[in-house]
Amino acid sequence: MKKDLKEDIEAVFTRDPAARNSLEVILTYPGIHALVLHRGAHYLWQHDHKLSARIISYGSRALTSIEIHPAAKIGKRFFIDHGVGVVIGETAEIGDDVTLYHGVTLGGVSWNNGKRHPTLEDGVIVGAGAKVLGPFTVGKGAKIGSNAVVVKPVPAGATMIGDAARMISDHHDEKGNPIVKTAKEIKATKKTSSTRASTFQAYGIEQSSQDPVAEAFAKMLEHIQQSENRLDQLQDAMCKLDPDFCKKDYDKLCLKDLDVIGDSDMDAADTEEK
Ligand SMILES: CC(C)(COP(=O)(O)OP(=O)(O)OC[C@H]1O[C@@H](n2cnc3c(N)ncnc32)[C@H](O)[C@@H]1OP(=O)(O)O)[C@@H](O)C(=O)NCCC(=O)NCCS
Repeated sequence: MKKDLKEDIEAVFTRDPAARNSLEVILTYPGIHALVLHRGAHYLWQHDHKLSARIISYGSRALTSIEIHPAAKIGKRFFIDHGVGVVIGETAEIGDDVTLYHGVTLGGVSWNNGKRHPTLEDGVIVGAGAKVLGPFTVGKGAKIGSNAVVVKPVPAGATMIGDAARMISDHHDEKGNPIVKTAKEIKATKKTSSTRASTFQAYGIEQSSQDPVAEAFAKMLEHIQQSENRLDQLQDAMCKLDPDFCKKDYDKLCLKDLDVIGDSDMDAADTEEK
């Protein structure tokens, strides 16, 4: 425990040039307070003192503005700089030497039980205000830029920027009214149907959602291919009428050069081409 604290304080010095001495770090760094309290809460959680664990976690939140669920697994030398507004969900897993800045959410996109928060491997850095949402892995040493919204796995060593927000679905009933489910209806759906149906729709992200931009590209490419085929047929007909008609080859459209559409769409288009 003492060794862990020593390592945590050393981690602050390596990652925050503003840190001056150990006493200052112990007394004034909310990230350190939250981490120490989380270790206690996590121990209680694992030994089935769930309420006490939640009370400690709640107290830590009031003191530091950092909310860490007591079940979250956190490795060594974890550093939360500034702290305010950090939320770490129940099934989040954090490796060693990970750094989070203020306003980071390691959240879920579903109300289902089970793994629904991200896993951050060793050495990951998550910039201020970034949201990492879902039960996927952010690989070793990856960096998430400030204010990025990450909803898909991140390979080791990658740097990710930007946000993923765009309209991916539009839920309306037959009369065109937005569909809003009551708590009772959601509970009933959860009882009667499969996992996907109980997705937390309010977050607006569904794993099964189609990407309208990729769909539009796929449609456009299909249309271009059809036009090309028609032109080829027209050219052949012209050559039959007039053998001197100049038959020039033009660059064929190579679908593999376009990575905006999914592999399956490309495969389908390629098969059609053949
Ligand atoms: C993502 C990050 C790690 C990238 O750092 P880097 O590899 O040095 O990248 P650069 O600064 O050279 O920027 C490369 C490009 O990405 C853009 N970019 C960098 N960070 C960005 C971000 N968070 N959001 C959007 N674009 C970003 C830059 O504008 C630049 O674009 P350009 O090539 O068109 O000019 C870094 O910018 C970042 O966001 N770190 C988090 C820092 C933080 O939260 N600090 C809080 C301290 S209190």
